[in-house]
Amino acid sequence: MAQRKTISQKVDSLLSLMTLEEKVGQMNQYSGFWDVTGPVPKVGNAAIKYEHLKKGWVGSMLNVKGVEAVRELQKLAVEESRLGIPLIFGFDVIHGYKTIAPIPLAEAASWDMEAIENSAKIAADEASAVGINWTFAPMIDISRDARWGRVMEGGGEDTYLGSEIAKARITGFQGNDLSQPHTIAACAKHFAAYGFAESGREYNTVDIGTSTLYNAVLPPFHAAVNSDVKTVMNGFNLLNGVPVTGSSFLQRDILKGKWGFEGFVISDWASISELVAHGYAEDLDHASELAANAGSDMDMESWAYITHLVKNVREGKVSEDKINEAVRRILTVKFELGLFDDPYRYCNEQREQERLYHKDHQAGVLDMAKKSIVLLKNEGNLLPISKNQPRIAVIGELANDNNSPLGSWRLGSDDNTAVTVLEGLKKYSSTITYAKGPRVFSPDANFLNEIQVNETDTNGMEEAVNLAKQSDVVIMVLGEHGFQSGEARSRTQLGLPGLQLDLLKEVYKVNKNVVLILMNGRPLTITWEAENIPSILETWQLGTQTGNAIADVVFGEYNPSGKLPMTFPRSVGQVPIYYNHYSTGRPDLEPNVFWSHYSDEKNEPLFPFGYGLSYTTFDYSDLEIDTSDGENIKVSVTVTNTGKRYGEEVVQLYIHDKVASVTRPVKELKGFEKISLTPNNSKKVIFTLTNKELGFYNNDYEFVVEPGEFDVMVGTNSQEGLQGSFTKK
Ligand code: NOJ
Repeated sequence: MAQRKTISQKVDSLLSLMTLEEKVGQMNQYSGFWDVTGPVPKVGNAAIKYEHLKKGWVGSMLNVKGVEAVRELQKLAVEESRLGIPLIFGFDVIHGYKTIAPIPLAEAASWDMEAIENSAKIAADEASAVGINWTFAPMIDISRDARWGRVMEGGGEDTYLGSEIAKARITGFQGNDLSQPHTIAACAKHFAAYGFAESGREYNTVDIGTSTLYNAVLPPFHAAVNSDVKTVMNGFNLLNGVPVTGSSFLQRDILKGKWGFEGFVISDWASISELVAHGYAEDLDHASELAANAGSDMDMESWAYITHLVKNVREGKVSEDKINEAVRRILTVKFELGLFDDPYRYCNEQREQERLYHKDHQAGVLDMAKKSIVLLKNEGNLLPISKNQPRIAVIGELANDNNSPLGSWRLGSDDNTAVTVLEGLKKYSSTITYAKGPRVFSPDANFLNEIQVNETDTNGMEEAVNLAKQSDVVIMVLGEHGFQSGEARSRTQLGLPGLQLDLLKEVYKVNKNVVLILMNGRPLTITWEAENIPSILETWQLGTQTGNAIADVVFGEYNPSGKLPMTFPRSVGQVPIYYNHYSTGRPDLEPNVFWSHYSDEKNEPLFPFGYGLSYTTFDYSDLEIDTSDGENIKVSVTVTNTGKRYGEEVVQLYIHDKVASVTRPVKELKGFEKISLTPNNSKKVIFTLTNKELGFYNNDYEFVVEPGEFDVMVGTNSQEGLQGSFTKK
């Protein structure tokens, strides 16, 4: 508190010295532009940016990495500008910097908040070692649509789980003292509702109801603010007709008003200038006015503020108070990062040498990767495979790929640095033979371009099938390329790309002992696979330690415990599909067609939210509900390991508020606990339901708790569990 007060005094006295141009300059963020250690640019945008830096007209840079480059630019800002205000350096450190962790959706599958926090801490440690002091993460957009490529970057479909993950990741990045050189400011994004892009198409319109906005979309952001997140990013989307970047309702009324957010709001890349394309602003000038008035504090690469905002203030279209408020927020974060005490705090060549790819980081992301794996099916206990198993075939291009498993958002990493599945498996067994099968992806797949998939060339099929014939067990590694999900990677089809399903079917014809290892950045429609293939592991994109993590699970060194953070559909036509939907007026099977269903597909998903198996089994018993407290409800259950191995289980609690003034979903996750058990041992798990869990937001954005009957379910996923009910007085 005392520190905050001192910072606020320092900010105010600095603010009093600043010209309007310098203030607006602080609201301006530029992307890295030229080889900063090379010659000074003489023409174009780069030259302008250089001049602006010297004038103190740049508040922040993004996409600049490496101590040498950061130091060089910081020097310009600090030593050449009139007031010497340091820059803050932002970067998309989404799931690791050099050492790459699993994609965030995979991490979410661990339901392990300690591991997730640790993973963010590792990312912060490496990023800060190269001069970065701000990450554009975590993305906490709830999404129910697997067609949207950015589901890989978030925590899945559920608000409760998503809020817990938001807290864990923010704490991991920011630590408890932001001025420490190994912590960085976090950014909760994209505010708000970007995950609801219509038909899963990137950058598309969002039109959602009030109740969904208040109860599904906003709570993770509220949780982020309560976790002291230092920045929030708005987004590209419209929300009910208003671009969120220009939304005063979201940024001023809710975020800064109701929630009391004290950090600053950064626009998304060019999202201020995109107000024009949205048909919301006449031109860039108008866009700068609208965004600033709406509470968007910093402009990322729209060139809107730097070119028009001073004029708009002078003409009285934006008040200087609003500018002061934005600048105050930005300067406060800079003070909190310790940049005014030492602008080169994050520029330490020795740390840069020591921290990247540190062995502790490798161990941390390996742990995270193992915890992210979900066992979807294991008929006849084909998994784990014995280390002495003769004649193991490994088939599929992705098995030997050291780039794709790094995922999509990994701008700081080095290409081709993942341990492949093949390498990992070979550490355990010398009886492995590999066949690539038909080519799947073009080898030059990258972050910027559309991915090319082979749909026709069957070369390699025969060799793979022959190998399968001569083997006892076949491990097929199939899925999406790492660059097939992420920003601007929407898909209309969610099956295995290219000829991979054909390959799987051909192999299955000659050998039924197939273990399918899936790699993907989103839920897939693997309906045939799930019906036929005996064992399936969902491994997402697991980052640097991919092969080692998968091998540990395949050979039984590690017992998988992941649970799906997103529903897997049976077919694309079911999407968006999610467990916490509302009831229709006609939910039940009727003898005629007039009930809510499809005529050509089941309503049920292929795998529900929260689903995941283990090499051992767990039994749930003794559901008890204690309402004696009068206010809080205690729900307990006993979980027993009934199998033969040590294992971990995520015990999940769901409620259903049966009648409410605003209808509640058929089920809502309101608690979970990850427990570990040795065989034949039991644990009693106790959940407490307070008003926080039992209430909801009404359509006036008031949090209400209504008395009445609730159903409760505690179980192993969102569809299976022990059921009870209670009355809330
Ligand atoms: C656009 C993305 O939407 C955002 O999440 C990211 O942080 C910025 N680009 C900066 O790269």
